[in-house]
Amino acid sequence: MEVRATNAAPLETIADTIVVGAFVGEPVAHDLPGEPFELLLRSGEAGQETGRVALIHAEGRRCVLVGLGRREEFTAQRARDAAGLSVAKAIELRAQAICWEVPHHVDETIVAALVEGCVLRSYRFDRYKRASDTARSPQLSSVVMSAHHDIEAIVERAAVLATAQNRVRDLGNRPANDLTPAALAEYAHELAGERAGLEVIVMDEDMIRDTGMGGFAAVAQGSDQPARLIRLDYNGTPDGPLLALVGKAVTFDTGGLWLKPKNDMHTMKFDMLGGAAVLEAMATLSDLQAPVRAMGVIGATENMISGGATRPGDIVTALDGTTIEINNTDAEGRLVLGDLITYSRRTGAAGIVDIATLTGGVVIALGSVYAGLMSNDDGMAALMQRAGQHTGELVWRLPLHEAYAEMIKGRYAQITNLTERREAQPITAAEFLHHFAGDVPWAHVDIAGTGDNVRSAVIADKGATGFGLRLLVEAALGWPRVAAAMQAV
Ligand code: BES
Ligand code: MN
Ligand code: ZN
Repeated sequence: MEVRATNAAPLETIADTIVVGAFVGEPVAHDLPGEPFELLLRSGEAGQETGRVALIHAEGRRCVLVGLGRREEFTAQRARDAAGLSVAKAIELRAQAICWEVPHHVDETIVAALVEGCVLRSYRFDRYKRASDTARSPQLSSVVMSAHHDIEAIVERAAVLATAQNRVRDLGNRPANDLTPAALAEYAHELAGERAGLEVIVMDEDMIRDTGMGGFAAVAQGSDQPARLIRLDYNGTPDGPLLALVGKAVTFDTGGLWLKPKNDMHTMKFDMLGGAAVLEAMATLSDLQAPVRAMGVIGATENMISGGATRPGDIVTALDGTTIEINNTDAEGRLVLGDLITYSRRTGAAGIVDIATLTGGVVIALGSVYAGLMSNDDGMAALMQRAGQHTGELVWRLPLHEAYAEMIKGRYAQITNLTERREAQPITAAEFLHHFAGDVPWAHVDIAGTGDNVRSAVIADKGATGFGLRLLVEAALGWPRVAAAMQAV
């Protein structure tokens, strides 16, 4: 889909459908056929409240009126939702090209949010549908944003971000027999091949084991699909402090011998969404030529059952020498991430952000509105919270505490991945990772509740949401200042 900005009035563009937003208590924008809208508003068929959509025909075009609510309550999230609704209506009308009349006197974050809403709502996953079926189901080919002032740069940037988020959704929605760890590594090569500033290094399963990543290797050993460690490097400012983005990419999680219940097991193809967000965030930093230095580290493996699979009670040695009792084969994500965090530290990361579909507990605690945030550093936590506010990908901080760290102490080894009671699972999982992060500034984002299966005006369909891509990019952009402040202390 093409997305661009114009200074031309909507009626001067080639769009077959014009979208205009209306604030409560304000007249419809002057450069559109205002009268028919006023009539509909008076009759009640159209409304300026959020969630309202109405249609008129004028000058050979369709015009869609979307309610924006009260101007003083208008936020980027509302803009995203309004844009999503407009696209849903446009697609229902079989529109090909829409032109949004950007509301007057709104700031750039609103313009960006409108673009994001349009691009995200246009997403569909039809890789496995028959071409004859997909040709019949309508799709937008272009979105034009019309404003009196210059919004070209902000529109382009927002389109880059939302398009990358849709690529994360594509990766998530692909089934595990298609998107294997090796296929994900191949895809990383493709992404880097298309981008001058992005370098990729892949480690195969033998290398993972031979370097001493005993946690990662233990998860991988039950699967016939060989694991991959995928590392991406982007140097937007060669001497800057290095930020590591670490992602869990379990391409399928059966639970291992702690087998998961059968009814919902198919959703465990989404257990790679943290890794997918990291992959596309790295590509996006390169696309935006962001002035930061970042490294993506992705652990791609399946968690399966076979004669070679780990048994509950097995003890393995992690990359940093820590001995781990694997008492629960379904708590596999932390085994992979622990080694990736050590790897990031050894590669010189000054800060680490990991993102993972890590615990069912975070779904119970926060649902699909906020992702869980846990951190050993207030500056790092604030960086993530600000990025959440800015992108609408919200994070809620949960505490760490020595008493939680106490709960992962092992009986026969140093630490265990099974805590005795089903208490505070998102936090004890984070304490497990904290063990490996030590005092390197680190933040952990648990997206088990926000990564898939979220219904919203923008995401619309169930399936992968792409949550985390915009959050990670925003955090990376803010990272140099946070790192400088850490230096100053
Ligand atoms: N991938 C799951 C977490 C998950 C659960 C993601 C639900 C999305 C939706 C993870 O590997 C897992 O199985 N976690 C266990 C940990 C527990 C056994 C300590 C969980 O949360 O049940
Ligand atoms: Mn699991
Ligand atoms: Zn998992």
